[in-house]
Amino acid sequence: MKITKYLILILFIWSCSSESGNGESVITTDDGPLTVTNPLLDFTVPANFPDATYSILQNPPTEKGFELGKKLFYDGQLASDGVVSCGFCHIQSFAFTHHTHITSHGVDGQIGTRNAQPLHNLAFMNEFTWDGAATFLDTQPIIPITSEVEMNETVSNVILKLAADDTYPTLFEEAFGSEGVSADRMFKALSQFMVMMVSANSKFDKLERGEAVTFTDQENAGRAIFDAKCASCHAGALQTDQSYRNNGLAMDPVFNDIGRERVTGLPDDNRKFKVPSLRNIEVTFPYMHDGRLATLEDVLNFYTDGMVDSPTLDEQFRRPDGTFGIDITPEEKVQLIAFLKTLTDNDFIEDRRFSEF
Ligand code: HEC
Ligand code: HEC
Repeated sequence: MKITKYLILILFIWSCSSESGNGESVITTDDGPLTVTNPLLDFTVPANFPDATYSILQNPPTEKGFELGKKLFYDGQLASDGVVSCGFCHIQSFAFTHHTHITSHGVDGQIGTRNAQPLHNLAFMNEFTWDGAATFLDTQPIIPITSEVEMNETVSNVILKLAADDTYPTLFEEAFGSEGVSADRMFKALSQFMVMMVSANSKFDKLERGEAVTFTDQENAGRAIFDAKCASCHAGALQTDQSYRNNGLAMDPVFNDIGRERVTGLPDDNRKFKVPSLRNIEVTFPYMHDGRLATLEDVLNFYTDGMVDSPTLDEQFRRPDGTFGIDITPEEKVQLIAFLKTLTDNDFIEDRRFSEF
């Protein structure tokens, strides 16, 4: 079913685009015709994935757009100090997370309050960041660029720097078919780069698609426990149902992070954070929105014994005896961790298309 759906999308893009002699093609979008002046990249929805939420037809990734997005992603000019690029906090070998600091670490060594999130499968997400403050991938980068503790820059100043640069004006023209360095184009190029970051080749994915892999007995046992005790939130191929929940972490007295309430203003959303995808979880340590837990063992010990109560604690964690947590035996913890490691996608974290050099 899914494959058929995707083939229809490819055929649709293909049939909507008409090639002219100079490599230009015109794609029909909801906003009318869009001229693409360099080859389109093949954005493929994996067979075991849901539909993309990002509108590929509004901003189809092209070879030059992707290359421009990648250059911008690794360029310190987007920050006030000329050093802290997106890639500084989002390091590919850790599924685009950051490790030397538990919470993020920006210009002038300033420390943020949250752990850098992995970047993968962003084309399938409804909202972005731990509290869903960003609802559109194209505008998400405004947050790190302008945050005082991250890149501490203004978008207009970044554009001035890029427009005065030796190479960027040509790269923007090649990517978008006409002269002009603009914020809109910069964000579109960053999105073209990030949208292509599809991670779908873990052992778990291959098994889901019926490819030639088998789980060990331990991985199978771990999967059964995961399906029974974790998959209600860490659901499906993306390993998240994309909801916001309070999983019983004690309030950090320094950060005092109220989570989703910051965005909605609703007391019901107090201390709720987006259910994170567990894809590549083996390499994205430390864990939780503020990186307070160092290892997967720590996470499982937290789920069995570390939760605290609060009015918005998810009902699933309330045990009949009045305590909070999930019952997992020591043997089951070993099996769960074996399963969680099947979610590591080495093809993605080693994919040269996304690497700085
Ligand atoms: C100083 C470190 C830092 C820098 C620099 C940085 N980020 Fe992030 N990034 C983070 C942190 C921390 C979060 C989580 C933010 C939150 O929840 O409030 C995040 C979240 C994100 C997300 C949301 C992911 C998701 O699954 O919802 C995206 C997308 C992203 N960053 C892209 C970028 C881009 C593009 C740049 C460069 C323009 C960038 N980041 C620069 C630390 C950084
Ligand atoms: C009721 C929903 C729910 C259930 C059930 C649940 N989780 Fe979570 N999980 C969350 C939320 C929400 C977070 C993020 C909390 C935060 O950082 O504030 C999270 C965070 C995590 C993290 C850290 C991820 C990261 O990127 O830092 C891991 C690992 C994890 N959960 C594993 C599990 C496992 C294994 C189970 C089953 C034993 C489980 N979870 C059950 C909601 C849930």
